[in-house]
Amino acid sequence: MSYIRSAALEETGYVVLDSYDQSKDPKEWLDLEYVAWKSSGDTRFAPLASAAGEMECNGFWNHTPPRTDKDGVWVPANVAKAPILKARAEEPGANIGRCRVIELQPNSYATALYNLHQDDNNRLNPDGTGWIVRGFFNLSDDKDSFLILREDRFDPETEVRIALPAGAQLIVDTQRFWHAVWQKGPEPRYCLITSYESGPELDAYIAAKHGSPHAATAPLDPAFVQEAQADVRRRLAERAATLAAQGRGAWVDDED
Ligand SMILES: [Fe+2]
Repeated sequence: MSYIRSAALEETGYVVLDSYDQSKDPKEWLDLEYVAWKSSGDTRFAPLASAAGEMECNGFWNHTPPRTDKDGVWVPANVAKAPILKARAEEPGANIGRCRVIELQPNSYATALYNLHQDDNNRLNPDGTGWIVRGFFNLSDDKDSFLILREDRFDPETEVRIALPAGAQLIVDTQRFWHAVWQKGPEPRYCLITSYESGPELDAYIAAKHGSPHAATAPLDPAFVQEAQADVRRRLAERAATLAAQGRGAWVDDED
């Protein structure tokens, strides 16, 4: 047995979909209730679907009984304020796990590299069922900001930088990629992030939205990249030394 995966994601692990006309919608994300949640970067989350419909963001495997990232329950107070975001999350017709809006404060390229992580989307996911991937629907207009994807955490040669204007829509295997967002600001970034189960519904949605496995990657000065890379190595070494001094083990990244 093995997981059901999307053929569209096989080549690069992501697809860029047709962009969405975000300008016609009200900014529902500004009305939502946000909660603090440990994550990479300076973030808050507004849960739209959680494990039990509560206003919280914990992984479904941390609930009782533990379960995988499927069958999310809508959070009444937030979906009442964001019917369009809920409808967009439901449009693919695939099973939804966690669904939330992320708010990310501006950061630097080096900090984004420091925040690179892989999601833990498929913990407890039964073999033979659909692999969990994530939809990123950018809400704020961050055309100069980038979703950074790397196959190899420490190899800039594997990096893809995907611009995030309002209405940008991607499906990404975030367990495969090291990823983070470089939000240039000055405003925070808002993005609808949804866990989807791979299968025929998601495949049909990707096809209907002309999913492309090749995004134009934004150019960056190689010297700037190397400088940021050195900064990240220094910060990671400092963090490891601090944890060792505290007698603690490896620091584990959380979600998003
Ligand atoms: Fe993530």
